[in-house]
Amino acid sequence: MKFWSKVTLAFASVALLSLSGVRLSGQAPAQGKAATQGKAQGKAETPAKAAAKAGGPAKVTAGEFFKNVTTPTLKDLTPDDFILAMGLVADNLGLDCADCHPGAGSDKVDWVIDTPQKKTARKMIEMVGTINKTNFAGVQMVTCWTCHHGRDRPATTIALDAVYSTPNSERDDLVTAVPGQSAAAILDKYIAALGGAQRLAGITSFIATGKSVGYEGLGGTGEFNIYAKSPNMKTTEISFKDHPDRGKSIWAFNGRTGWITTPRGLLGEYEVTGTGLDGVRFDAQMAFPGQIKTLFTNWRVGQMETLGDRDFNVIQGGTARGLLVTLYFDTKTNLLSRMIVYTSSPIGRAPQQVDFDDYRDVGGVKFPFKDTFLWLDGRWTAEISSIKTNVAIDAAKFGKP
Ligand code: HEC
Ligand code: HEC
Repeated sequence: MKFWSKVTLAFASVALLSLSGVRLSGQAPAQGKAATQGKAQGKAETPAKAAAKAGGPAKVTAGEFFKNVTTPTLKDLTPDDFILAMGLVADNLGLDCADCHPGAGSDKVDWVIDTPQKKTARKMIEMVGTINKTNFAGVQMVTCWTCHHGRDRPATTIALDAVYSTPNSERDDLVTAVPGQSAAAILDKYIAALGGAQRLAGITSFIATGKSVGYEGLGGTGEFNIYAKSPNMKTTEISFKDHPDRGKSIWAFNGRTGWITTPRGLLGEYEVTGTGLDGVRFDAQMAFPGQIKTLFTNWRVGQMETLGDRDFNVIQGGTARGLLVTLYFDTKTNLLSRMIVYTSSPIGRAPQQVDFDDYRDVGGVKFPFKDTFLWLDGRWTAEISSIKTNVAIDAAKFGKP
């Protein structure tokens, strides 16, 4: 497939993004150094630096930060949310950044120039907003995916194969609550399966180390450290021994603010300022799952689902700002097998999926030692080799890198 073959490579240097469970494509192309890219855009500053100059928290908009971002729909986003929207555009259309931005993925990228595809995309972005406003009371019912379905030009006629083969397996993002089902009961069973509330509460910090393996070897193998402190601090650091030039990528959240550093990424180092912040917080909180019931007030139970030969209880919760989280619990083990986190964007929800496997016992509590991440830019597996619990971790570890 076009997208994976081209973009996964382009994104290989950052194929680790979602270890933090949240941001995607912010790190876009593996081209050049952040500084070079900054100059190419005529702006060498990160959003955070620009914001610091402006004398406040990072409130700089994409319209201010980038040179040629003009759509009313996207220009007021934070730069990181804007790049998230770019990832969605590319994936929804089965395109690669370079199809609209000449040279993306190389040092010669020109993000600013208006290509015919960019012009069409601008029109489409506004069209989608209008469709939703005039037909769906402003609710985001139609997105690029609704028509494009991974093609640059939408198909107009049903393929006869589709009529006679297996039915479309696409699901609604939103889970419809099944009356009489209790999310709390499913979460209680999960907590018990992990080792029980008391043992979980006994873990107040941990350091996990291991290696990251890119899908089919793409992106290389890296080493990661995860530092976590209850109830909601988490930092992930990844480096590549064989490629020191890639530098160290860091995702940090200290309970209040989040920072992302990807040395070769489009945005370099930045404070997470947009809707992604809810996702970062949720991810950090999930490092201490004993508190899971309190994370959302609107947990609801959906229809049971079968994936492969296993059955799953499905629950969903979210925040008013648009974070949506769907959890799949294996009905045999009661353990969490899949987590889909959707962050919102004006042009559609951006999903990230983590599959948890190989649960092992660490001092009476079960941790998943194999976590597989899928998001818009790629897939990647974290293989944990050791977890040390209740170790002292300097608070600075969770702050600005
Ligand atoms: C279908 C076309 C399309 C694709 C694919 C696409 N973009 Fe864009 N890009 C746009 C449009 C349109 C704008 C201007 C948006 C606006 O005016 O609000 C833009 C603007 C940008 C800008 C701002 C440049 C500047 O300084 O003005 C950056 C950076 C960017 N895109 C990055 C990316 C990345 C990274 C990808 C791949 C993940 C990507 N784009 C994929 C259409 C596209
Ligand atoms: C209501 C259906 C619909 C929706 C929703 C939609 N599009 Fe389109 N789009 C089309 C159609 C139809 C074409 C082909 C038009 C043509 O060939 O003249 C197209 C073409 C395009 C093209 C040009 C592709 C090419 O290579 O010729 C781009 C870029 C594009 N759309 C971007 C988007 C983006 C981005 C979104 C979401 C913000 C979006 N579209 C949402 C129907 C849609």
